[in-house]
Amino acid sequence: MTSSKSNTTLRELRNTYIAKGNVSATTCFVSHAHGAVITDVEGRDYIDFAGGIAVMNVGHSHPKVVAAIKEQADKFTHTCFMVSPYEGPVILAEKLCQAVPGTSPKAAMFANCGVEAVENAVKIARYFTKRPAIIAFEGGFHGRTLMGMTLTSKIAPYKAGLGPFAPEVYRMPFANCYRCPYDREYPQCKTACADKLEEFFVSYVGADQTAAIIVEPVQGEGGFIVPPKEYFAKLKTICEKHGILMIADEVQTGIGRTGAMFAMEHYGVEADLTTIAKSLAAGMPLSAVVGKKEIMDCVHPSGIGGTYNGNPVACAAALAVFDIFEQEDLLAKAQHLGNLLKEGLLGLQEKFSLIGDVRGIGPMMAIELVKDKHSKEPATAETKTLVKFCFERGLIILGCGTYGNVIRFLMPLVTTEAQLRQGLDLLQEGFASL
Ligand SMILES: Cc1ncc(COP(=O)(O)O)c(C=O)c1O
Repeated sequence: MTSSKSNTTLRELRNTYIAKGNVSATTCFVSHAHGAVITDVEGRDYIDFAGGIAVMNVGHSHPKVVAAIKEQADKFTHTCFMVSPYEGPVILAEKLCQAVPGTSPKAAMFANCGVEAVENAVKIARYFTKRPAIIAFEGGFHGRTLMGMTLTSKIAPYKAGLGPFAPEVYRMPFANCYRCPYDREYPQCKTACADKLEEFFVSYVGADQTAAIIVEPVQGEGGFIVPPKEYFAKLKTICEKHGILMIADEVQTGIGRTGAMFAMEHYGVEADLTTIAKSLAAGMPLSAVVGKKEIMDCVHPSGIGGTYNGNPVACAAALAVFDIFEQEDLLAKAQHLGNLLKEGLLGLQEKFSLIGDVRGIGPMMAIELVKDKHSKEPATAETKTLVKFCFERGLIILGCGTYGNVIRFLMPLVTTEAQLRQGLDLLQEGFASL
């Protein structure tokens, strides 16, 4: 036992005092976590293939992150950047502006979590274009605030009963090749789904009223949907023709998750605004909007900001994250891990007909479970059973997808080959047991 309270006691306390809507995917309570392993309060180890939902790309309790947090906490924890500024956010902004894809001069602002970055990106896009409408995509996930849940596609659990929603948000189908909304085949379709944006302006909202489209380079919560390579370039060309901004929501894909620092690198597209959070500060609450300087600079003084934005401890952690990527060649490790993961998952697909699709980029991979490969009927119950089976044997995996039938892999990029193999073996046992 590594805590004075057991999992059962903590569950009872939780049920009494934590609001029921705020659920957890697993039933154990964490005592400590290192690298890719979480240990619960009763001393049980779990291999972590969830990474706190894409937050722990550098691994749990990385010594450099821990040291940076301690060192900064010893100096000061808050003065408010809007009152008495300090170095951390300035240095971090420089690093982010250099790292976000594209050659345009850039500027950044900080917030505390992914959806707050999304909110700010929408505010800035509207201010810059003087237009109200935002186009989001089917399957998209952008968070849980009023604007965030409005932009989010999935009704249950994210929107059901929680409206009314923010105005001037429109939604169009996404490039989902496994379940094409237009029933076409890639590449014969010539990515016609991107061209639909022009038609959208005829029937749903005027191009001259549209401030921005907001897109995830790889849809996260929506089921790790990877659009064809040319998709975003086509969307961007249409946007530019009409003076519409592209917001790349890299909250989940950013900071090395796909084997590149930002996923838009894979598509060779420079977004106008990019939202970043999750693995940016290795678990400290920190997010950013990074965008073209003339756009970022458009808002009048104090039109954006907030009490905790650019918190010094969180920024120190984020700077340590950048050092780790550089010093430990983490992008190369991520690519290697991604290759091994893909190979392992494709091997499982050969053995188990339940796996309809294996997809992703680098170590941001997922498998989609279907009852039948032809009808593609989602195997939602089987997915739940598999997640539970793995957890009970010491492996944390997460479901996702519009139908809850996708298992996503978001393990720390420092996961060892042995841990990866152990996890895949447990997954194989799980499939065999179904
Ligand atoms: C693409 C994307 N955008 C926004 C968010 C919201 O981030 P947060 O939960 O930190 O507000 C998430 C969270 O999963 C996300 O995946």
